[in-house]
Amino acid sequence: MTRAERSDLRKQKGCTIWFTGLSASGKSTIAIALEQHLLHLGLAAYRLDGDNVRFGLNKDLGFSEKDRNENIRRIAEVAKLFADSTTIAITSFISPYAADRKIARDLHAASGGEENEALPFIEVFIDIPVEEAEKRDPKGLYKKARAGEIPNFTGISAPYEAPEKAEIHIRSDKSTVEESVAKITEYLQSAGLIP
Ligand code: PPS
Repeated sequence: MTRAERSDLRKQKGCTIWFTGLSASGKSTIAIALEQHLLHLGLAAYRLDGDNVRFGLNKDLGFSEKDRNENIRRIAEVAKLFADSTTIAITSFISPYAADRKIARDLHAASGGEENEALPFIEVFIDIPVEEAEKRDPKGLYKKARAGEIPNFTGISAPYEAPEKAEIHIRSDKSTVEESVAKITEYLQSAGLIP
């Protein structure tokens, strides 16, 4: 069955909405609210995050650069399968390396061919200055990282490579969760991905 036939039968197009941003940037909060909003609209949406991926499929991975590369590679593959099934896959991971996010994007682009349109990949940059994230520090991780208790902590002792051309840019310290969800929803509507 072609992707178009599956989408017609399911009355929905799949895509991947790829959140990226520092720890405590608000990724998960916005992703949860977006998932709820889409579900209330009657759409199939499913969120992949640390809780359901890092404790299962990726429980063998830590936070070295190599492990993060593999973390993102596997998540990209899983998100692509959800999107192919006509679900709106929402991923919520720091994904700090631009090259890893490009691999995820290219994987979706490569899903197109003679019979199938490529699966859309929408990168959402949840942007917050690191000082602001550190002030929030809901889990006390920045404090521990500063004290040297967590090695390779993104923004402190490991890099975060901010996206230069994300489809959607959200300054999470300057907008509410509702405004952020509305911005993403409007993008999906204007791209013809949701009614
Ligand atoms: S990554 O970089 O995309 O592979 O990271 P991710 O899978 O999103 O996991 C980030 C969450 O793991 C916790 N944690 C750390 N974050 C960053 N650096 C280090 N060293 C680290 N160790 C543990 C942290 O709670 C992140 O959760 P969020 O929800 O982003 O705050």
